[in-house]
Amino acid sequence: MRLSYEETGAGELVVLLHGFPLSRRMWSEQLGPLGARYRVVVPDLRGHGESPVVPGMATMEAMADDVLELVDWLGVTDRFVLGGLSMGGYVALAFARRRLEHLKGLMLLDTRAGADTPEAAMTRVKTAQAVLALGVTMVVDAMMPRLFAPAALVDHPDRVQAIKSIMEQTHPEGVAAAQKGMACRPDSRPDLARITIPTLVLVGEQDVITPPAESELMAQSIPGARLAVIPGAGHMAPLEKPELVNPILLDFLDAVTRTASSKSGSSEV
Ligand code: MLT
Repeated sequence: MRLSYEETGAGELVVLLHGFPLSRRMWSEQLGPLGARYRVVVPDLRGHGESPVVPGMATMEAMADDVLELVDWLGVTDRFVLGGLSMGGYVALAFARRRLEHLKGLMLLDTRAGADTPEAAMTRVKTAQAVLALGVTMVVDAMMPRLFAPAALVDHPDRVQAIKSIMEQTHPEGVAAAQKGMACRPDSRPDLARITIPTLVLVGEQDVITPPAESELMAQSIPGARLAVIPGAGHMAPLEKPELVNPILLDFLDAVTRTASSKSGSSEV
């Protein structure tokens, strides 16, 4: 599927995948700083933003295949860096599980490697049915209080409002399909030791959706992974604290691209 996307900058490719039920617009604070040094591509995952909506189920694997199709279509044949936040991280993990040879580095932001519990999966399926019948408002209302650390509501009300508006505009079929896809995503924890590329795990200290403990476990299980915990940030750390997150992303990207060009195959950065 041809995804809608935006790009900025030139140089080595960095692809950033948004969370649920958001769009590429959540990377507004990253495009400028990262685009000054890299070719940054931010797609809308299927069923989100301006990308096509496919009713049914959007598995993390299908979304990962869409990303590879986009990279192919862009004509990029070199290995690239893939980053994803929350659901975008689930997609990045699905990509890494099946297509690691395409990646130079991995950035797992405010996400988790484990699958849903049976109860959580059942709730998602019920939510998907309700969204199709009643619209996305219930998902927006349930998620908004959990996405941001309290400070963001005071410091960046405009960004908080922008995220709410993105969620409200997401198509109910897209929301339902992603919920069903996330409900059946596999447990990626057994695969983490096989991620032999440089990896950054980053999480907001006050993330209540994918808490720091999940990130610590991921970082411990991925050989050589870096862990960054962002003080005062919640689940939307890159949007809440770009002044802290962007230097960490750039430092990682600079190390990955330097390492990859001088010493291919190493996971140490
Ligand atoms: C997200 O932010 O992408 C979602 O909260 C992920 C999830 O529902 O597990």
